[in-house]
Amino acid sequence: MISDLLTPSDPEAVNDPLNFKSSDGDVSAREEGDVVVYQFRNKSFRLDKSKARQRLAGKKVINGHRSAELNVLPIKYHEAYRIYKQMKANHWEPDVIDMSKDALQWNTGALSPKERWIIEMGVGYFSAAEGIVGDSVLHVIEDNLTAAELKHASLRHIAEESIHMDSLLHIIGSLNIDLDEVTAKFNDIPSIQRKNAYITRHMPELKMGIDLTKTENKQRFAKAIFGITQVMEGTQFYALFAMVLSLHRQNKMTGIGQMFQYTLRDESNHIALGRYILTQLIEENHDLWTPEFRQELVDFMKEGVALEKEFVRDCLPEDIVGMRQQEFLDYVDFNADRRLAGLNLPTLSNIRTNPFSWLDEVIFLKKEKNFFETRVTEYQTSGSVKNSSEEDLI
Ligand SMILES: [Fe+2]
Ligand SMILES: [Fe+2]
Repeated sequence: MISDLLTPSDPEAVNDPLNFKSSDGDVSAREEGDVVVYQFRNKSFRLDKSKARQRLAGKKVINGHRSAELNVLPIKYHEAYRIYKQMKANHWEPDVIDMSKDALQWNTGALSPKERWIIEMGVGYFSAAEGIVGDSVLHVIEDNLTAAELKHASLRHIAEESIHMDSLLHIIGSLNIDLDEVTAKFNDIPSIQRKNAYITRHMPELKMGIDLTKTENKQRFAKAIFGITQVMEGTQFYALFAMVLSLHRQNKMTGIGQMFQYTLRDESNHIALGRYILTQLIEENHDLWTPEFRQELVDFMKEGVALEKEFVRDCLPEDIVGMRQQEFLDYVDFNADRRLAGLNLPTLSNIRTNPFSWLDEVIFLKKEKNFFETRVTEYQTSGSVKNSSEEDLI
């Protein structure tokens, strides 16, 4: 039934009778097997429902029927649509975040030089890293997907990366940070260069369009999704986020902290979407999921962890008040392992507990009115997010 394609929460749609006649007799509908016939006075329309089923059967993550009109119906990948709705419910806008207290702290010496360095590294790295993710999701992931609801959710992912880029511009503008210096950080700090070169080194050929019926190319595609969503967003973003949110916890740079809190919540959805697309891809293409390829992904994560630890040591060369370097290094291992475990891949470390369990509470707070005395902002829309912790999501 057509009503099966609509959400069960729409009672009218579910109860919509297919055989009816309007009170004035102008409109009628009747079923003839797979065909529904609508009669409007002297006009009739025959709707063949079997075509919808054929379309559903032709939907695949890759190499499926391409919908030129990006029509998500009939929906096959329901979880992607659920994640899309979750992303939409978390919508936020950076430029309404009050940065006046941050600017005051930044300009009056309220931060130590080491704390300032963390903020500068955060701005330097993320100002371009968010763009790498957005560009890669657009040209590497979305371009190669064929199911419309997967493309639809990925487009929302890309739009959120633009919001994150916008948040960095809001920070730079509010604090009056030297733009040339920000750009130079991204280009000149070796640990940042190495992280980005490692993530993007397999991307060029995928952007050109490759034959995804070949197993080796399916594996390249799967590795790119894994690299962007599980390694970069899921592992390499978290330690620096945690450093900035540690400052936030000490009531320092709370405007930036608030933006990073919302960003991190978005990242949780991006990780979940990437993992879902990967699992569906594997489900439909068992040929790619060989023991050798699984090991290749684990090795790729291992390299990403080593590069991330080098970056953590650059951001936090030694312990400072409220921040121990070792905890951030452990946090890298903890996140890498939960991304691997999420795909039933073997883990790499012995870290089994989250050194920053308080972060989950910070990320998923709906209001922070009583915590940080920042401007009260309630970004969740009426279809509010139901998850109470990151674990529910990822
Ligand atoms: Fe992002
Ligand atoms: Fe993201």
